[in-house]
Amino acid sequence: MEVNIYKNKTAVAKQFSSYFANLVKEKAAFHVALSGGSTPKLIFDVLASEYGNQIDWSQIHFYWGDERCVPPTDEQSNYKMTVDHLFSKINVPKENIHRVLGENDPKGEAMRYANLLEINLDRLDTIPQFDLVLLGMGDDGHTASIFPHNIHLWNSKDHCVVAAHPDSGQQRVSINGKVINIAKEVAFLVTGSGKAEKVDEIHNKKGDYKKYPAALVNPESGNLVWFMDEDAAVSI
Ligand code: 6PG
Repeated sequence: MEVNIYKNKTAVAKQFSSYFANLVKEKAAFHVALSGGSTPKLIFDVLASEYGNQIDWSQIHFYWGDERCVPPTDEQSNYKMTVDHLFSKINVPKENIHRVLGENDPKGEAMRYANLLEINLDRLDTIPQFDLVLLGMGDDGHTASIFPHNIHLWNSKDHCVVAAHPDSGQQRVSINGKVINIAKEVAFLVTGSGKAEKVDEIHNKKGDYKKYPAALVNPESGNLVWFMDEDAAVSI
């Protein structure tokens, strides 16, 4: 595991963008699962502005590690966030964007998306293997859309699961922990003081830290790289 700590979120965005550009260089058919929420917004903005014309986007296939079950025009949509901050600024073929369609039938979509991954991606031990999975971490230690209260989904037999947000009950389609941990590369993007407590507990292995799904991210053979700012990593 590699832990990189930078002064602020802009520095995290710049360093991650350089890491991503190096990963995809001269790769054919690179499959990446994007994270959602708010952290990626600045990161995608910087990636697009600094590497928009340098990366051959036609070789990159975009998926989501998790998506809220809302229409693609909804402000809560991770797809919409990615269009606003990345796809609207780069030349990526529409057929390379594999949106989660879960707004109407979450359970059916979880099955469809799992099948899509199994068809589109190479598999290792029968599990679809991403070249890169981006992850964020919630203030409660969740990652993708596996929360402490539904951590049993981490090892679900289904590669994509339906999970409900603990507070809002909002339904989400999420890849499970097996898909995350089979990936060739996993990059955690964690910034802000709100994450500091869980970063401390997880990285310093405090108390019952394994109750947090983010603590279970441990790629079997792939690389795990944390990109954090000083606010999030204040205690490590
Ligand atoms: C989502 C994400 C989720 C996110 C964390 C951190 O759909 O919300 O995939 O796992 O990464 O909740 O969110 P912030 O970046 O908004 O803090």
